[in-house]
Amino acid sequence: MAHLSVNINKIALLRNSRGSNFPNLLEVAQDCEIFGAEGITVHPRPDQRHVRFDDIAPLKALTKTEFNIEGNPSWDFMQLVLENAPHQCTLVPDAVQALTSDNGWDTIKHASFLKEIISELHSKGIRVSIFVNADEKMVEGAKAVGAERIEFYTGPYAKQFTENPEAAIAPYIAASKVANDIGIGINAGHDLNLHNLKYFKKQIPELLEVSIGHALVVDSIYYGLHNTIQMYLNCLK
Ligand code: PXP
Repeated sequence: MAHLSVNINKIALLRNSRGSNFPNLLEVAQDCEIFGAEGITVHPRPDQRHVRFDDIAPLKALTKTEFNIEGNPSWDFMQLVLENAPHQCTLVPDAVQALTSDNGWDTIKHASFLKEIISELHSKGIRVSIFVNADEKMVEGAKAVGAERIEFYTGPYAKQFTENPEAAIAPYIAASKVANDIGIGINAGHDLNLHNLKYFKKQIPELLEVSIGHALVVDSIYYGLHNTIQMYLNCLK
């Protein structure tokens, strides 16, 4: 079964909108775990509009499941990750002002930069995942620079899924085959939801982990956090 890591950025956004500590991010993270999530993901962005840099140490201390920090490896980000040593760091090439991540790494063009960053992360025992598009060459590049995993950017899959699921999944099946052949683990994330997740998991049985934020938080408004997590877990069975 693939693991569900809940991205709690949107909870932090809600908290930040009122300048108080409500909802309490630590309590929500803890409840996600109690309700069955197998990981907690945070994506500290440079403007700290979601999770803030000072949220990271208490979250690391509290989480009992896998703690995943994702983001662009700027100097500040790297200090934060190295100090807090999460189980996994997912490297994402998002621009400073990006609304959300919308593209994977070019693992060939940026190979020497990624190698350097990855060896720093490995020196602290942190597993590294690289956010990539469903592109065989980028998967091979991720393996070549030393990452243990890739995270497929599933935005394009989600966009095409309603119209044509077979066409939407095809590049991910091809890229997964390469990942399996060369021995790199597969994570996935972005725009996954209760409609498209089950099919993705069925077509990519080797999937190890998904990180889901936006849709899961929106679904929680209707179904409650506990029910929603059960519904996502069911899609991954
Ligand atoms: N993976 C990465 C690299 C992301 O940047 C995000 C969004 O922060 C996600 C997964 C989760 O995407 P969503 O919020 O659409 O579930």
